[in-house]
Amino acid sequence: MVVRWDASIVDDLRLVEAEITKSVRSRQPLLTEIATHVINAGGKRMRPGIALLSFHSVGGKDKEKIIQLAAAFELIHSATLVHDDINDGADTRRGTIAAYRKYGLQRALIAGDFLFVQGFRLGGAMEAQEVVEMVAESCTAMAESEILQIEVERRSATPLDTYMSIIGGKTARPIEASARVGAYIGGGSTDEIEALGRFGLNIGYAFQIMDDILDLTGDRKTLGKPLGMDILDSKANLPLMIAMQGHYPGSDRIAEVFEKDRKTNEEINETLDLVQATDALDIARSQAKDLRDAALDALKAISPSKYKDSLIALAGTVLERTY
Ligand code: IPE
Ligand code: IPE
Ligand code: MG
Ligand code: MG
Repeated sequence: MVVRWDASIVDDLRLVEAEITKSVRSRQPLLTEIATHVINAGGKRMRPGIALLSFHSVGGKDKEKIIQLAAAFELIHSATLVHDDINDGADTRRGTIAAYRKYGLQRALIAGDFLFVQGFRLGGAMEAQEVVEMVAESCTAMAESEILQIEVERRSATPLDTYMSIIGGKTARPIEASARVGAYIGGGSTDEIEALGRFGLNIGYAFQIMDDILDLTGDRKTLGKPLGMDILDSKANLPLMIAMQGHYPGSDRIAEVFEKDRKTNEEINETLDLVQATDALDIARSQAKDLRDAALDALKAISPSKYKDSLIALAGTVLERTY
């Protein structure tokens, strides 16, 4: 029998959903509708899951706060997805039409802001200034990375360490924050908070590298979002960068397409084939595996429990995921 990574926190996650549902209620029905569209479309709930598991794995007792914070992380994450699809011009998200495609750019921008603020309201209700600081700092890092990502668009020679700092800010830091906050609220020691933070950070890096791989090789339907978007948008994507910066037969052509302002469908498909013909996907996968292993290594400092087992199981899904 396959045990899901979230089996130990099913009841908690149900409470988180209830908290999220409450938070997206607005005096304007349309605003509630747009926010609900995003929330109800699905999603893995990885960030609330990591917050809850970190909390429990350090022996946290008072669940009320962490349920609210876990909901806050998902609300903030969902806000970034609404805005991300606008920035990336993506038509689908979580297997359904992207919010801005259904409701228009103006309303989606506002709904994204609304989700952000509702997330911060829940997170900010904590008396701990440290928590607000951790969440705010990760959101700031995300904004900085999104700006940097736009700055290096269409630059085929962007160094790989710039890539790492982009994904650090946009994906790894927010996941690190979920883990740190969970451990902090759970009353973890400084060492435990550090260890779980390191787990979240490394899982976040591995997760985004897999996201990049899936953008090039995934199944559109299972993934629930379009393929080849990073080529179309000339966005920093690890296998793509390895393939065009290497000395493969197709490297120059991949770089040429990447630098173009507009691409045809044929050029996208041609680029996908050229990347597949290199070992860039394997190299990226092996980097994701090393980062996953670093995440697992961080868990050595955490005492055994079913929650720690869930974190290990979660780390196991990162390289296997298809959506
Ligand atoms: C998508 O995150 C954005 C990235 C950081 C790659 P997820 O893949 O966790 O999205 P959902 O929440 O499961 O839809
Ligand atoms: C995710 O990066 C960044 C966020 C902070 C939302 P991507 O742009 O690669 O995410 P997907 O592939 O659209 O989910
Ligand atoms: Mg995107
Ligand atoms: Mg992506």
